[in-house]
Amino acid sequence: MDGNGRWAARRRLPRVAGHRRGVANIQSVVNTLAERGVEVVTLYAFSTENWRRPTAEVNALMEILAAEIEPQTRELHKSGVRLVHLGDPNPLDSMLQDAISRAERITEANDRFILNIAFNYGGRDEILHAVRRILADGVAPDEVDEGLFGRYLYTDGCPDPDLIIRTGGEQRLSNFLIWQAAYSEYYHTPVLWPDLGEEELDRALAAYKQRQRRFGSLDAQHGHGEA
Ligand code: IPE
Ligand code: MG
Repeated sequence: MDGNGRWAARRRLPRVAGHRRGVANIQSVVNTLAERGVEVVTLYAFSTENWRRPTAEVNALMEILAAEIEPQTRELHKSGVRLVHLGDPNPLDSMLQDAISRAERITEANDRFILNIAFNYGGRDEILHAVRRILADGVAPDEVDEGLFGRYLYTDGCPDPDLIIRTGGEQRLSNFLIWQAAYSEYYHTPVLWPDLGEEELDRALAAYKQRQRRFGSLDAQHGHGEA
């Protein structure tokens, strides 16, 4: 969800106003994607590297999450959305950790749509976390294959992303689902996250449908492109 700061700067507003506006766009993006047949969406909200930002901005982002998690969960729950947190909860304030667990518990039985929120998420951190747990469980080396490894990731049970959309114009993955993105299609757009609406989402989905996915083989794979 990149571009909140620039959205605010263009309006001579403080960056935090951009972050608020960014959160306000979540419901409408989720609704649009659900209408188009998408079943799983992951939002990259706060990375393990975002702690390097000035303390005031980090605190503002934490406060926004703390204030928004309950009202957003209520709305999402009404639409049948299941919320799942991806990332390391431990460095977060204990009130926030509780609020995240509560949101997950409340929406646990919803099966129409999964919304993963990557918060204090980093792909390398996730892989190290998996390796530590695999070792702690005493798993034998020859039992470690892609399937087992995937079950130790935060995304356990979730399909790999078909399409990754990056807003705000940058053309890099920034530690997002680096294991799971091995064969994801990538779409980047200069549109800033708070401005991401139906038109650009439809452009991204249309671009995805034009892609031929071969997963390393010579043949196009079928079974995608319904969305
Ligand atoms: C939001 O956008 C990303 C978060 C970490 C919340 P930015 O804060 O990176 O916005 P820009 O890139 O400065 O516009
Ligand atoms: Mg940015």
